[in-house]
Formats: sequence, structure tokens, C-alpha cells
Amino acid sequence: MARSVSSAVPPADFQAVFREGLLKGNAALVTGGGTGIGRAISLALAEAGADIVIVSRDPEHLTATRGEIEALGRRAHSCACDVRDAGAVESMVRGSEAALGRLDILVNNAAGNFLCAAESLSANGFRAVLEIDLVGSFLCSRAAYPLLKRQGGVIINITATLAELGVPQQVHAGSAKAGVDAMTRHLAAEWGPHGVRVVAIAPGPIGGTEGMRRLGRGREEAIARAIPLQRLGRPEEIASLAVYLASGAAAWITGTTFIVDGGQRLRVRSWAEDE
Ligand code: NAP
Ligand code: COA
Repeated sequence: MARSVSSAVPPADFQAVFREGLLKGNAALVTGGGTGIGRAISLALAEAGADIVIVSRDPEHLTATRGEIEALGRRAHSCACDVRDAGAVESMVRGSEAALGRLDILVNNAAGNFLCAAESLSANGFRAVLEIDLVGSFLCSRAAYPLLKRQGGVIINITATLAELGVPQQVHAGSAKAGVDAMTRHLAAEWGPHGVRVVAIAPGPIGGTEGMRRLGRGREEAIARAIPLQRLGRPEEIASLAVYLASGAAAWITGTTFIVDGGQRLRVRSWAEDE
């Protein structure tokens, strides 16, 4: 018998698949970890037992999430840092090590995006998104690598399905995320022999996020209808895959991108369609 659409709605306790203390003793650094999907990942890793560092440019984006991590009984550290600034990234990683003593998990989640037609996009606009998403992910990975390889670790890059599609008004973000997917494979090949796995998660449209606000422009219902599973994703549904990928259960997984999009890519025309 066909299952109803509501069967695609996760039960409230869907994170209970993870045993308690799964990531106990681990330390994780999440860029853009104070808001949206990054916040959900930070909280899920903390719930699984990890201590957490969250970083982004605006300290006001970090304070509340830091408090939520501490309320879960984990150590938390936050740091204002622009991931485009190599020197600032190096010193942020040194500060993270000083605060938590080790690093096992890096989540490159920080990103910037907006809708803009290619013909109107300035060089700086294109460059800003490439520098945050792609260069920033590289700089954080390079700075974290010496700590990750000490005991083995994992880098989880948050990319997007548009990296493998062709989407109007998204040449900057699609190009940047395609670079992130390529970087995932290259670093996995280079760092695997040293005990560092590199994987990526490509979310589809996630409700209640800044990304959705900017790209969805109030068309959430129409976007949801075009998704085979008939709804937007939840930040927690990205976060639970991140917990799995950070765990020992994923110890033989590296160099690949996992799509979590309710099947959207099978039917997508454009986030900006009908405009
Ligand atoms: P968000 O809340 O705006 O997350 C972006 C985060 O990155 C913010 O916390 C921001 O904080 C930080 N950030 C931006 N520029 C930075 C910089 N130069 N240096 C350091 N931190 C910086 O948006 P989101 O929707 O949750 O997106 C999170 C990730 O999911 C992104 O990688 C995005 O591409 C990906 N994604 C999202 C969706 C979606 O539907 N939302 C779909 C596919 C992929 P500050 O402003 O404080 O720096
Ligand atoms: N359309 C077209 N161009 C835009 C734009 C838009 N909506 N927003 C910014 N730009 C251009 C700017 O005009 C500038 O180019 P210029 O110097 O030729 O005028 C360039 O992008 C950089 O803008 P600036 O505001 O100086 O960059 P920033 O480094 O302060 O911010 C952004 C980076 C633009 C990506 C900003 O939107 C941001 O901080 N985003 C983070 C949050 C986010 O995007 N979340 C969703 C993640 S999916």
C-alpha cells in the first residue's frame, strides 16, 4: 500500500537513532554555527556529546547558540572570524585548540548567497560568494588539518544541490559549491592516508533559514509542492546526517557528497521560476 505523504514527516524523536554519548570526548568546529543549518548541526553534535566551537563574523549571531550548547552540558567556545581572512582563520583555530584542547570534526557551513542575474552580477559579487564558500572552506580545512590528523578526524562541507544543476540567478553560488564538491574529493584523496575523512552534504530547500528567505522569496508553498516528498526540509534533518558522518559508523566513507533534498533535484526547474 502506498504510504501517505505524512509518512515523510520525521517523528519528533528521530534523532534517537543515535546512542547517547556517541561523540563524547570529541571537539567540533562549526563555521556559521550560530544560525540556521549551522546552529542545528552545532546543537546535534553537542547532543551527541561533542564540545563545540562556533564561529562567524557577527558575535551577535553566536551568543544565543553558545548558551544553548552550554545548556546541553557541553563546553562551548565562540569566536568572531571572517573565513575569507587566512590570518584570522589560523588564529581562530589556535584559539579553538586552546579552548577545547583538540579538534576532531570541522563543519564548513559558512556561506553567502543572493539571487542575481549573471549579466548584472559585479566581479565583487561573484568573488564575495566564491571567497566565503570555497576559499573560506579551504582556509578552515587547511588550518584545521594539523589538529585533525593528530588522532584522525572528519571535515563535513555543507554544499548545495545547485552545484550539480543549472539554476538561473545562481552562477556565483553554483560555481562556488561545485568547487566545494571538487575540493571534498581532492582533500579526501590527499588526507585519507593521514586519517582525515572529507565529506559533503548538499541540502535542498530548508524551511525557516536565511538561505530559504533569500532564495525562496515567499514562494515556500510552491517550492514545497514541486518536491516529491511535498515539504521543505528541516535543519535537524541535515544535522542528523552530519552526526552520522562524524561518527565511527561512517569510518569508511570519504570523498563523497550526500544529497538531502526530499527528491527536489529530480524535478527542479529553478528556485526563481515564474518570476
Ligand atoms: P545562514 O543562517 O545565513 O548561515 C550562513 C552562516 O555563515 C551565518 O551564520 C553567517 O554568520 C556565516 N557567514 C557568512 N559569511 C561568513 C564569513 N565571511 N565568515 C564567517 N562566517 C560567515 O544560512 P543557512 O540557510 O542556514 O545556510 C547554511 C549553509 O547551508 C550554507 O552553506 C548554505 O549554502 C547551505 N544551504 C542552505 C540551504 C537552505 O535552504 N537554507 C540550501 C542548500 C544549502 P555571520 O553573518 O555572523 O558571519
Ligand atoms: N545582488 C547583487 N549583488 C550583490 C547583492 C545582491 N543581492 N548583495 C551583495 N552584492 C554584491 C555587492 O554589490 C558587492 O559588489 P560591488 O562591490 O561590486 O558593489 C559584493 O556583492 C560584495 O557585497 P558586500 O555587501 O560588500 O559583501 P559582504 O562581504 O559584506 O557580504 C554577502 C557577503 C554579499 C554574501 C552577504 O549577503 C552576506 O553576508 N551573506 C551571509 C548570509 C547569507 O547569505 N546566508 C544565506 C546562505 S545560503
